[in-house]
Amino acid sequence: MTETLPDFPMARAARCPFDPPPQLLAAAPISRVRIWDGSTPWLITDYDTQRAVLGDQRFSADSRKAGFPAQTASVRARRENFRPFISMDDPEHDRQRKMLTRNFMIKRVEAMRPRVQEIVDTLIDDMLAGDKPADLVTGFALPVPSLVICELLGVPYADHDFFQACSKKIVSRSTPVDDAVKAGDDLRAYLLDLVAAKEKEPTDDMIGRLVTDQLATGELTRDEVAGMASLMLVAGHETTANMIALGTVALLEHPEQLARLRDTDDPKLVANAVEELLRYLTIVHSGRRRVATEDIEVAGQLVRAGEGVILANDAGNRDEEQFPEPARLDISRQARHHIAFGFGVHQCLGQPLARMELQVVYSTLYRRIPTLELAVPVEELQFKHDAFVYGVHSLPVTW
Ligand code: HEM
Repeated sequence: MTETLPDFPMARAARCPFDPPPQLLAAAPISRVRIWDGSTPWLITDYDTQRAVLGDQRFSADSRKAGFPAQTASVRARRENFRPFISMDDPEHDRQRKMLTRNFMIKRVEAMRPRVQEIVDTLIDDMLAGDKPADLVTGFALPVPSLVICELLGVPYADHDFFQACSKKIVSRSTPVDDAVKAGDDLRAYLLDLVAAKEKEPTDDMIGRLVTDQLATGELTRDEVAGMASLMLVAGHETTANMIALGTVALLEHPEQLARLRDTDDPKLVANAVEELLRYLTIVHSGRRRVATEDIEVAGQLVRAGEGVILANDAGNRDEEQFPEPARLDISRQARHHIAFGFGVHQCLGQPLARMELQVVYSTLYRRIPTLELAVPVEELQFKHDAFVYGVHSLPVTW
């Protein structure tokens, strides 16, 4: 019977780079698929069922458990070496996550807004002073979140070529297993050295505070501090960078929406546009992964203990019961209940920061460069079909 099951992930339609794969959108709310290792986890596509599963801790995020549907052989191998708290269950997940939450409190994040504005303005000045066409990814989309997360964590930005290269290998589906494992190990080794330096000379940044508050008291080991830092470093710039670049492509392809965003002084409309673009693009597009720890009925289907589930949040964000005319980009739509940041205990820790960065970017970039346009036809852009985080590899623009 399993012979006829569809493969997952599925391919997007060539001419619809912003839409989830048609086969995914057409799938039943719950059905079986086949993944890279031949196993056949359940695929869940509708919004309500995904929230129910992600909110139910009988579904485990522990990637070591039998039946866990790992994204690739590389992810499985990397998790054998090291498992960050995104791949743990409570209470250990909660213990580690709580050590970081105060860094992402709204008040704390808002206090960073002027500095983020300054970073954005400086990078736009540099781009305007440079040659045309320019690559918006390397000149703007990547450095914005990278500079921000480096300052927050206390990682020297001067090393960005090194850690961005590691991060790129980690999030690509096509990196050979050994290279992906090495990239993860290299990044943690680099961060272990940084932890050692901060033990000698304490610093007031996120890693520095983990060193003085948790490492010194024995609540965390050095490996755990480096692992947490590595998770934050990769999650903190791969995602936001892709939202900046891909969001810009989507807006340039929807000029009436771009004009509304560019011409507004209303911070609420800007915040709304951020939520709508997060929903519409759902860049973390390869499905949240869990495994059932007991027999559980899901949308009328019995999922047995040890069976994997894949929650397709990109399909969930196109559920028309939640978002009427879901394929339409509409920056005034109420979209904040989207699941682009996941849902439940693992819901994105960095979301207040990501939202603030995107609000600053979307309210500044198109105003400062009102004639911004693609320097190549959209058909020539290389979309990141092979990465866990969707986006564009480069974005030639002119003005
Ligand atoms: C637009 C930007 C972002 C998107 C779309 C995004 C998306 C996500 C998603 C879907 C999850 C859920 C994973 C799961 O359920 O298994 C997640 C978790 C996480 N994200 Fe983000 N993220 C973004 C930005 C950030 C930033 C800026 C940071 C850090 C500074 C960050 C740190 C994390 C961490 C630490 C987790 C794990 C949380 C946990 O397991 O408790 N993310 N993110």
